[in-house]
Amino acid sequence: MAPGDHRKVIAVADPAALAKSAAERVIARIAENNGRVAICLTGGSSPMQLYQSLATEPYRSKIPWDRVHWFIGDERFVPAGDPLNNMAMARKAFLDQCAPASNIHPIPTDTAHPDNPDVSAERYERELKSFYGADVLDPARPLFDLVLMGVGPDGHTASLFPDYPALDETERWVVGVPKAHVEPFVPRVTLTLHALASCREMLFEVAGAEKRAILTRVLADENLPANRARSIGETIWLVDQAALPENFGG
Ligand code: 6PG
Repeated sequence: MAPGDHRKVIAVADPAALAKSAAERVIARIAENNGRVAICLTGGSSPMQLYQSLATEPYRSKIPWDRVHWFIGDERFVPAGDPLNNMAMARKAFLDQCAPASNIHPIPTDTAHPDNPDVSAERYERELKSFYGADVLDPARPLFDLVLMGVGPDGHTASLFPDYPALDETERWVVGVPKAHVEPFVPRVTLTLHALASCREMLFEVAGAEKRAILTRVLADENLPANRARSIGETIWLVDQAALPENFGG
């Protein structure tokens, strides 16, 4: 496979077009599955507009909320109600208004061992395995229909930071990350590349001029966590004009 061939880059005009396009992809992935749907959300600020869109028409009534389950790809190790908590942000933006509580699957951070993200990671891995119904991922039966992702200024994705050992994990589905590489500097819990890959589609959302430098490095196929994150199905990078390197495609 030639460098970059694992992904498809789709350019859109601006953040509003990006949210619209992402919402349409979410709806399309859900429509492909008549049974129980699993979507893995992401933190950060990039998916906010998408999340808000999903709670409003024309998208809200297209989602069969009772059979869609919502997971999160990484979490900041802060209590569930903390504004820095990724799932708290998604709940506020759309899940609490739309999804049955039993379909929302946060990474537990209010554990009996509040200083140890590994305990949370083990609990979430058990929850994912029980949802999936097996301890080993079968490429013929992906864990998620859709995994949403973002990219940080250092090329991290989820809470997988450059040069961290968690990147090479091939057995565990979820791991604790004692120290973050970027703000907020709190421990993290993250799904591994191995678990995130088990999806029909992985969808990165990248918008804004501040993302142009890292996107340039990603598109040059540098060895960055975000480049190592790829689906066993389709990997899509949805990018707005402000983030796109000037020479892209030319
Ligand atoms: C987190 C994220 C992280 C995020 C990127 C991009 O917990 O911060 O899950 O991986 O997606 O850092 O963040 P922005 O969307 O805020 O740029």
